[in-house]
Amino acid sequence: MTDSSSLIALYPGSFDPFHNGHLAVVTEVAELFGNVVVAVMHNPDKPSGLIPLVDRVQLARRCTEHLAGVRVEAFPGLAVQAAAATGANFIVKGLRTPGDFEVEQQMAHTNRSVTGIRTVYLPSRADQAFISSRFIREIAQNGGRIDHLVPEPVSVALAGIFGKPSGGDKGRS
Ligand code: PNS
Repeated sequence: MTDSSSLIALYPGSFDPFHNGHLAVVTEVAELFGNVVVAVMHNPDKPSGLIPLVDRVQLARRCTEHLAGVRVEAFPGLAVQAAAATGANFIVKGLRTPGDFEVEQQMAHTNRSVTGIRTVYLPSRADQAFISSRFIREIAQNGGRIDHLVPEPVSVALAGIFGKPSGGDKGRS
C-alpha cells in the first residue's frame, strides 16, 4: 500500500484563467496526497483562449506559490502523456455540477482505456460551485467585477488586459 502523502496527482486544465475554485482543488489535493502537478494544457474545444499559455502558467504559479508540493507546468499533447511524463499516480478533476460529471466521466474512461491511468474526483466547495473560467472571461471582457472569483494575481492581470471594472459593483468599495 502506498503512503498517500507520497502520491503525485496530475491536475490538468486550461486555466484560462486560474480561479478560486481551481485554487481550492489544488490546496485540497496537496493536503490529501502531498504532490500536485498543475498541468496547463490546450483544450481543443476552446481554440480561442484569452490568456496565452505561457502567461497562464506564470499566473497559476503565482497563485499557488504558497503551497508546498505544488508545481505548475505547461504540457503539449494528451493529459495521459503529461501524467506519464511526471510519474503521476492518477489524474484529479474537480466536479462542480452533474454536467461536469458527464464530461469528466467520459474523459476518465477514455484516459483509462489509453494508458490505464485512473481519475479521482473532488467535489468543489459548495460556495464555489458556480465559478467558471468562461464566465470570468466574459465578465472581465465587459468591464464587470471578478476580483471575488479569482486570486489576486489573476485579478491584476485581467485589469491589465481589460482595465479596471467599471460596473456591476452593487455599491461595493
Ligand atoms: O479546464 P478545461 O478546459 O476543462 O480542461 C480540459 C483539459 C485541458 C483537461 C482537456 O481538454 C485535456 O485533457 N486536454 C488534453 C488533450 C487530451 O488529453 N485529450 C483527450 C481527452 S480524453
